[in-house]
Amino acid sequence: MADTKRTATLTLDGKTYDLPVLSPTVGPDVLDIRKLYAQADVFTYDPGFTSTAACDSAITYIDGDKGELLYRGYPIEQLADKSHYLEVCYLLLNGELPNKAQMADFEGRITRHTMLHEQIHNFFRGFRRDSHPMATMVGVVGAMSAFYHDSLDINDPWQREVAAMRMIAKLPTIAAMAYKYSIGQPFVYPRNDLDYASNFLHMCFSVPAETYTVQPALAKAMDRIMMLHADHEQNASTSTVRLAGSSGANPFACIAAGIACLWGPAHGGANQACLEMLREIGTVDRIPEFIARAKDKNDPFKLMGFGHRVYKNFDPRAKVMKESADEVLDLLGVHNNPLLQVAKELEQIALHDEYFIEKKLYPNVDFYSGIILEAMGFPTSMFTPIFALSRTVGWISQWKEMISDPAGKIGRPRQLYTGAVARDYLEVENR
Ligand code: CMC
Repeated sequence: MADTKRTATLTLDGKTYDLPVLSPTVGPDVLDIRKLYAQADVFTYDPGFTSTAACDSAITYIDGDKGELLYRGYPIEQLADKSHYLEVCYLLLNGELPNKAQMADFEGRITRHTMLHEQIHNFFRGFRRDSHPMATMVGVVGAMSAFYHDSLDINDPWQREVAAMRMIAKLPTIAAMAYKYSIGQPFVYPRNDLDYASNFLHMCFSVPAETYTVQPALAKAMDRIMMLHADHEQNASTSTVRLAGSSGANPFACIAAGIACLWGPAHGGANQACLEMLREIGTVDRIPEFIARAKDKNDPFKLMGFGHRVYKNFDPRAKVMKESADEVLDLLGVHNNPLLQVAKELEQIALHDEYFIEKKLYPNVDFYSGIILEAMGFPTSMFTPIFALSRTVGWISQWKEMISDPAGKIGRPRQLYTGAVARDYLEVENR
C-alpha cells in the first residue's frame, strides 16, 4: 500500500472531512474511512461489499473489466499452461515461485501429511450414508481441531505452517472419503507415489478388488481445475475465513466456515446447481423455455453457471477450462451425452442472446468445470467438494496473511438500523 498524500473531501452538514486516498500497486484507489465514524459520527452503507475493501492483500488480483486474474502477479493463463497445482500452492502461500529444491521439499512435506488420524474414520461413520459430501466435509474439517492439537496455536508461526500443510494435504483425502462413504465403498488410503491430482482420482475411483490406473490426461485436467480454483481474492468464502479468523478462531474451524459458505448455489455450489439445471432442461428443444424464464423478472430462476460479481466481460478461468473441457470430452468420446449436448447448445445461445450480452452474463468457470467433472464420472454432489479442496490453499494463504498482519483487528461490520426505537415492555394482558 499506500500513499497518503492525496485526500478526498467529504462535506456533511457544513463540515468537511479529509479522507486519505490509498493507492494499490494496481487497481482502483481506495478511500480510507477508518476514522470517519470517530470524526463525523456516520457509517458508510455498502450491503454486499460491492465498493468496500476490507483488508490489504498481496496474494491475488482480479480486474473484472479486463478479465484478468493474477496469482502473486502471475497471469492465470500462464500458470494453467506451465505450472501445476502444488507449485501454485507454494506460490500462493509463500509469494514466490519455488526453485527445484524448495519444490521438492514442499512436495515431500505435503505428501507426508496425506493420511488422516485413524480415529477420524470412526468419526465419518457417524454420518448418514446419504449425507451430502459438503455436509460431511464441514463436519470433518471442523473436527480436525479435535485431532491435531499441536497445530492450534495461531500465535506460533510454526504451528500455523503445520496446520496449512495438514489441510492442503488432507482435504483431498477427506473429500474422497466423503464420496466413498456416500456410495458405501471402502475408504481408499492415499498413495504418496502419485502426484496430488492423480492421488485424488485414485482415492475416488479405485476399489480394493481391482487395479486402477489413473489416465494422465484426466489427472492433468483435474490438476487444472484445482489450479483455476486455488484462490479468488476476497470472495464470500474467503471473506468468511478471514472474518472467522479475525476472532482468533483456530485454522481448522476457519476453513470449515469457508467450506460452509462455499456450499451456497450463488458461490461454489453453482457447479452442482448448473449440472442439475442441465438435467432439468433435459433436451435441446427445451432450452428456449429456460432462457425465457431466466429473462422473466417475475421468475427467480437464473441460468446457473452464468454471470459473475466481478468479471463483467469474461471469466479468464472459464476460457482455460473450456479448452480442458474440449480435451476431456474428446479423450473420453462422450460427445453424444445428451446433457453435454444441452450444455454446448445453451452456451452458444447465451453467448449470442441480446439479454445475456447486454447484462454481461458469460459462462463462468463452474459451467465448464461441471461439464468436465460429469464426463470424468463424478456425481454432481462431488463438484463443490472438489472446489473446496482446491480453494483450501487460497483460504489458508489469506488466513496466514491476516494473522501475520500486526494491524489486524476483529472484523465487525456496522449496520443501518431500521427496527423499532426504544419502547417499554408490555405486560401480556396489554398486548
Ligand atoms: N441468469 C439470468 N440472469 C442473471 C444471471 C443469471 N445467471 N445472473 C445475473 N442475472 C441478471 C440479474 O437478474 C440482474 O438483472 P436486473 O439488472 O434486471 O436486475 C443482472 O443480471 C445483474 O445481476 P446481479 O445478481 O446484480 O449480479 P451479481 O453480481 O450480484 O451476481 C452472481 C453475480 C454470480 C451471484 C449471479 O450472476 C448468479 O447468481 N449467477 C448464477 C450462479 C453462478 O453461476 N455462480 C457462480 C459464480 S462463479 C464461481 C465463484 O466464483 O463462486
